[in-house]
Amino acid sequence: MPDFSHLDLLDPKTFDGDTRPLMDWLCEKGVYYDPNSDMWVAASYDALVAVAKDPETFHSEEGNVPKLPNDPSFINLDGKKHRTRRGLIKHLFTRPAVAKLEDHIRDAVDKLIDDVIEQGECEFVDALAAKLPIQIITEMTGIPPEYREEVHRAMDVFMLGGNGPDHVTEEVNEAFINFGFIHMMLADERRENPQDDLLSIWVQAMDKGEMTEDDVLFEHTMMMIGGSETTRNVVSGAVQVLAERPELREALLADPSLIENAAEEAIRWVTPFIRMSRTATKDTVLMGHEIKKGEEIMMVYPAANFDPTKFEEPYTFDIHRDLKSTKVLSFGFGTHFCIGAFLARLEVKVALEQLLKRIPDWELVGAPERVSSSFVRGIKSMPIRFTPGERLGAVAAK
Ligand code: HEM
Repeated sequence: MPDFSHLDLLDPKTFDGDTRPLMDWLCEKGVYYDPNSDMWVAASYDALVAVAKDPETFHSEEGNVPKLPNDPSFINLDGKKHRTRRGLIKHLFTRPAVAKLEDHIRDAVDKLIDDVIEQGECEFVDALAAKLPIQIITEMTGIPPEYREEVHRAMDVFMLGGNGPDHVTEEVNEAFINFGFIHMMLADERRENPQDDLLSIWVQAMDKGEMTEDDVLFEHTMMMIGGSETTRNVVSGAVQVLAERPELREALLADPSLIENAAEEAIRWVTPFIRMSRTATKDTVLMGHEIKKGEEIMMVYPAANFDPTKFEEPYTFDIHRDLKSTKVLSFGFGTHFCIGAFLARLEVKVALEQLLKRIPDWELVGAPERVSSSFVRGIKSMPIRFTPGERLGAVAAK
């Protein structure tokens, strides 16, 4: 196996191109100290779970993005503070609560397909993969449609800061300020006129003295990043792999009940977040490695999700894979397990169902352009073509 010890795991360039050899190397090491980024790495399935399930030893309170200061959103809290803050909104993200959104999500997907179906081609990320999650999460937090595009662009830029301190540019700060203006204006409106949305819940908590203005701003930002910058990559990644493997598309068309598992496999296959970090609260030993109090450790999800000791033939996209016995780690593990997991799964499943139904013969036009990042994995743009069809409105009018 080649040696990758010269690579800086916080450098976006490290993740350009085929990262499989690097991920396999990290996974085999299990726990590893990267001298280039001065970070510990937990990369095998068991190592990642060991870190994630022990917040007393590996806490989030010093931030979950390496080398950057923490913000006060609940992804960076632990213990009672974390439970309380997550508890304010968790009822909106349970499986039954999210299931109520299914018809609405289907309708949203259909409208996005309607916008391109007569053309027989589109740039898929912009046309659908990115638009769907931002629509749903802005509706849930309470951002009206007229601000959606601006918030979407701001989040795309803000996200670049997740690559580390050198990437927090003026542009990234400006994007955050722009989002902050929209947020403040809407928060003020919610104080006067509460609605059935997340922003109203946070503003009420602020009025009761349970959250500060900053807490609410960063909570909103975290939700927007989680909600918009991840699921899109699974939808586009699934569309890519199904274009490359038409026999799988045939199987899903023949038996749509397989789509749910195919969506979960796509969540593993894409693994949108490359890493989240923790800080050791005390000197400890992790799988034989001595880690000192205050040292940072990053959990590398795309290494653990392709751990061959847990997933047979990990580099085969297998729509029949048993993902119930071995859970996919893309959403994390333990107390910080992604609050949006049911929502993301539903969005991916519904998007695939409608795409298979309405434009079943999609194909790629050239190679997709990938995002360059040490934080998220995904596709920046991916032109596709398909046999043109009719808008749903046109079908209904006949
Ligand atoms: C495929 C899509 C998604 C992936 C891969 C993903 C991944 C993750 C991961 C790995 C974590 C754990 C962070 C840690 O342990 O430090 C997390 C937490 C979180 N995610 Fe997601 N996420 C996705 C979709 C969403 C959506 C749709 C939302 C919003 C509705 C969301 C909101 C959050 C929030 C708020 C947290 C913090 C949870 C906590 O700290 O208790 N995510 N996500």
